Parts: sequence; structure tokens; C-alpha cells
Amino acid sequence: MKSPIPDYLNALLEKARPIEDGMPAQYIKTLANADTSKLAVALVMADGNVYSAGDDKVEFSIQSISKAFVYAIAIEDAGLDRVLEKIGVEPSGDAFNKLSLHKGNNRPMNPMINAGAIAAHSLVVNPNATAEERTDRILKTMSRLAGRQLHVDEEVYQAELEDADRNMGIGYMLKAAGVISCKPDEAVKGYIRQCSINVNVRDLAMMAATLSNAGVNPATGEAIIPVDSVRQVLSVMTTCGMYDGAGDWVSRVGIPAKSGVAGGIIGALPGQVGIAAFSPKLNDRGNSVRAVAIFEQLSRDMGFHMMDVSQIARASVSTSVAKIVAGKEDPHHRNCDRSVVIFALRGAVRFAGSERLTRAIVRELGDPNPKDPGSGKHQDACAIVISLRDAFSLNAVARRVIHESIIRLLAEEKNVVVIDPNDVLKMDLGKLPTSQHPHIVQNEKEAREYIGGIGCSAVIQSDNW
Ligand code: DON
Repeated sequence: MKSPIPDYLNALLEKARPIEDGMPAQYIKTLANADTSKLAVALVMADGNVYSAGDDKVEFSIQSISKAFVYAIAIEDAGLDRVLEKIGVEPSGDAFNKLSLHKGNNRPMNPMINAGAIAAHSLVVNPNATAEERTDRILKTMSRLAGRQLHVDEEVYQAELEDADRNMGIGYMLKAAGVISCKPDEAVKGYIRQCSINVNVRDLAMMAATLSNAGVNPATGEAIIPVDSVRQVLSVMTTCGMYDGAGDWVSRVGIPAKSGVAGGIIGALPGQVGIAAFSPKLNDRGNSVRAVAIFEQLSRDMGFHMMDVSQIARASVSTSVAKIVAGKEDPHHRNCDRSVVIFALRGAVRFAGSERLTRAIVRELGDPNPKDPGSGKHQDACAIVISLRDAFSLNAVARRVIHESIIRLLAEEKNVVVIDPNDVLKMDLGKLPTSQHPHIVQNEKEAREYIGGIGCSAVIQSDNW
């Protein structure tokens, strides 16, 4: 079978192609003369699988999309507290290049407008670093994010530099306000250089997918951005990434995003996919008209809106009851003919999933509840199996809730077996008394043998765990 996804992406491009609104950025010739027929889209799944269609090898300058990644680098180099001291996280509702600072605290409103981005650039490496050191650090990190060596487009850089009066004005304003401590023209030149790095849609989708994949490049497996920084970057992309169009974008598309004046837009849907679209004609907010249309359509077709509540935690736990059946051997294991209750968790488990598990355990093993017929039926079960075989991950809260549930079951002298082939439980047994250790096994067979005894050739009647 041929995958339907490339065909879908081609159809998506053909739908966007007739849109002729907008025009390419006019402030420098290189962008004003861009080939406006170019159109491309790419998706990178959180496991690194890449799909692309259209002009997916055509390179263009990353421009303001770089701001999201340089913000992450600034957090790593200067620390989040220092970055927040210098740059706010409030949407400005203004154009990206407005000479503006927050009235109350004299900080740039956020790192996605130029004032905040130039301040973030100045925090890369350290405040006394040279422009070359900062550019080198940024180019290397962006290349690791894209999974290939990227380069600065020198023609774009020179042209931007000749037209940099406004950004220079912002740089001097930042210096006068005490937001940056290096020379303003150094920070602005470095910022312009970061904007002049060339990419194609596949590079951008991989960079976005690294954000979606908790900071780990899904193709190379390299951990590049710490998870806390990823959360910070995605939050700011959500509220400020599309400038004065941010509210409209969040309600219509619902994917944390960032756009650039060369016509690229990235979207990073946490845990799922990194997306990039490209076409040079812009609307009056500075966002590519066709790329916006592509994102709107993709979000609708694929259910990508992050506020989509169609997936709920109910599906993540299933309960089944099995019986250990006596085999031929004598004497039989003491658990023969007794029941085992199996709780299977599926997917990426968070608080809601772990709460479902504790509720299911209490229902089966707790006191009967007169309002809930069938509850409390398995108080005398010979073992409780928690199967994490299909649990992709547990977040910190889910892990705490499950650890605590296991400790409570063991305190009631229940026999607890955990099937954990992917090592997601991560219970620090060294810190716990042995009475609080569950029996951890790799698969169902080992669990059955442990509960029923090998000598008894125990089998389970219902084999669905
Ligand atoms: O700061 C500038 O003028 C540009 N080089 C980058 C701005 C940009 O991409 C704005 N985004 N839509």
C-alpha cells in the first residue's frame, strides 16, 4: 500500500496554490524579488518520520522563526530568571518591529517581537561575548535542530544590514533602558545574522518537531533543548508567535507557531508533530497568506487544534479479571483457582490516566459501594497486575500517583505485579523498604509464572492481559 499522507499533502498545496493575495516583504530586494510561485509543506512526526510536498528543497531565510530557538538558547545560557528579568511574556498586539517597551517595567513585551528578540540574542553565550561567538553558537544549535549544517545567506544579511535603521533604533533603545549591556550595533548585527540563516521546509519541520518531541531531535535522537525551556518557548509561541494575529491564530489553528517575513511558518504540536509551510506572499500582519491557509486546513483535517478535547483519559485504563487454573502437577500452587485483577494502562499517561487507574483499583479491591453494583468484588484476589506494556510514558505526577497506589496496595498485603518492559515506572526501590517493593516483570508470561507458580503450569483462563 502507498501511504495516503503524501497525496494528502499534495492536495493541500493544490488547494492553497490559487490564493494570490498578499505580496512578498518589500523592505529588501532579495525578499521583494522572491519567486512567489514557490509553495511547500512538511510534517515531521515525533518519531522522526518526514513527509513533504511541493518546493521542499527551496531555501529561504529563516527570519523571525529564529526568535523561538534563540529564546531557548538564551534561557539555556543565561537561565530563565535572568531572561524573564529582561524580556516579558505578554502579547503586545503590535507590529513585530515596533519601537516599544512595557510602560511599567521598561522591558520588551515578549521575545517574538524584534525588541525582545534582540535582547534575547544579547543573552546568548554571555553578555560580554563577541558577535562571532554568539552567531557561531546559534548557527551550530540551529544546525543540530535541523539535523544538517545550515548556512547564513550573505546576500540577505548584507541587504538587511543596509536597511537596519529601525532595528538599530530598537538596539539603542534597549541599551538606554538598561535591557542589553553589549554594544547595540553588535546585538543588532548578530540578530540580523540569525535571521539570515537559510532553511527549507524540511529543516523547519524538523526544528519544530524537536520542540514537539520534548527538545530531542526525533531523527538524530540528540537532546538539544531542556524540557522546561521547550514549555516556555511553546507557551510564548502560542500567545505571541503570530504577532497581532495571535488570538485569531490560536482560535482558528490552535498550534504553537512562529512566522518569518521570507514566508515560512512553523507549528509545533506537543507530543505529535512538527509542521512547516512556505510561500513568499505575506498578509498585512507579516504572515505568509498561503502558509496560514495550509495550517488552517491541516488543523481542521487532522484535528491538530491543541484545545481539541476529543481525546479523553477514559480510554487509557482497562480492567480485566482472570483466574489461575490448576495444571496437571501436584501439589498445586496456592494461587490455583484464585482470581487476578489486571489493570492495563495505555498511551502517554498523565494525571487523568493515573487517577483512572486508582479509581479502577478502588472499585475492584475496595469496599463494596451500594451505589455501584459490582464494586468491591475482588477484595480477595491473589494478585493485582498493573500492566504498563502499552504505556508509552508516565509524566511526573502520574508516576507519583501510581507509586503511591502501589505502596498502599502493598501496605494492605496485596501481591502486586507490574509488567514494565519499557521501564516507565521508575520506582526508586533502593529508597523503599522491601515491604514496599512490587514484583516487576518484563512480560505477561513472567507475571503468570510468578503468580501461579511454574510447577503448577498455571494458565490464565481469559488470556487478554
Ligand atoms: O527584523 C527584521 O526586520 C527581519 N529580518 C525579521 C522580521 C520577521 O521575520 C518578522 N516576521 N514575520
